[in-house]
Amino acid sequence: MLQTDRLVTDFAADVRRDLALAPKQLQSKYLYDALGSSLFEAICRLPWYRITRAERRLLEQRAPDVIARLTRVSADAVPLFVELGCGSGEKLVILAEALQTAGGHGRVHLIDISSQALEQSERTLGRLRHFSVVGHRETYEVGLRHAAEHREDGNPMLVLLLGSNIGNFDTPAADGFLGEIRRALAPEDFLLLGADLVKPERDLLIAYDDPLGVTAAFNRNLLVRINRELGGSFDIDAFAHRAVWNPAAQRIEMHLESLADQAVTIASAGITVRFARGERIWTESSYKYDESQIEQMGIRAGFAVAEQWIDDDARFALTLFSAI
Ligand code: AVJ
Repeated sequence: MLQTDRLVTDFAADVRRDLALAPKQLQSKYLYDALGSSLFEAICRLPWYRITRAERRLLEQRAPDVIARLTRVSADAVPLFVELGCGSGEKLVILAEALQTAGGHGRVHLIDISSQALEQSERTLGRLRHFSVVGHRETYEVGLRHAAEHREDGNPMLVLLLGSNIGNFDTPAADGFLGEIRRALAPEDFLLLGADLVKPERDLLIAYDDPLGVTAAFNRNLLVRINRELGGSFDIDAFAHRAVWNPAAQRIEMHLESLADQAVTIASAGITVRFARGERIWTESSYKYDESQIEQMGIRAGFAVAEQWIDDDARFALTLFSAI
């Protein structure tokens, strides 16, 4: 079976299962079709969504420190960079250029569920002269396994999980996933984790419900995608974007709220789904942390904290863990 066919089958099965849950849900990884990836890129440029710029500032300041750590054991080692959810590839390029400036060479494996994101980051990183680049259109878990097969003794591996992508996992899932990353690594390897910090509720809400409506379009595009790929009958205008701060769980939630009593059929999933007016589909969680929660998360998974850098303006943390 072609990989694309498998992804479509999984999508239909996941939609069928998750819309039967109470409350109804859809997995956030399905937000990233070609249009969804472009809308996410647009979100990253919004003045109210500060994660991307804060992280880029930290990377630009700290790239030499990260590279110094990677090449501490051997100056002519060839590091293996594995980025999970590479997006446009612009962040990894900052580290790669720092390594090149120091006279080094490296290898890059990119993992993303979105073929558009993968193509863009392959182009971005393909410009580097001293790097080889391989892309995997896979989920984090599968992609990590495939990339880790290219690990070589004597050459350090750095896994990058940036942009607060970790925030889509609830705590048990995050622990499980960081544990998987740890098991793919050996001592002297590293994990670079970018994670957003808790901040005042009004700053969080406007970042996830922006005045231009880009985040609303990003969220509602999931219904457009279901209509196109799975033969759905969603009336897009009959669903509104909602962003909610859940303080007990320390997460922003995105929902799609039905504005009417209505029924929707999804042909490829073989279902008809009824919605009451005001009923919501939960489409994403973005967990927010404080500094020590991030450190503890890594420590629970078997890492030691090598460095933690904070952007105080946007309240964002970049933490370098070493696999002990
Ligand atoms: C790419 C998952 C980190 O949760 O902040 C942006 C996605 N959702 N605006 C996030 C997102 C709404 C983003 N992540």
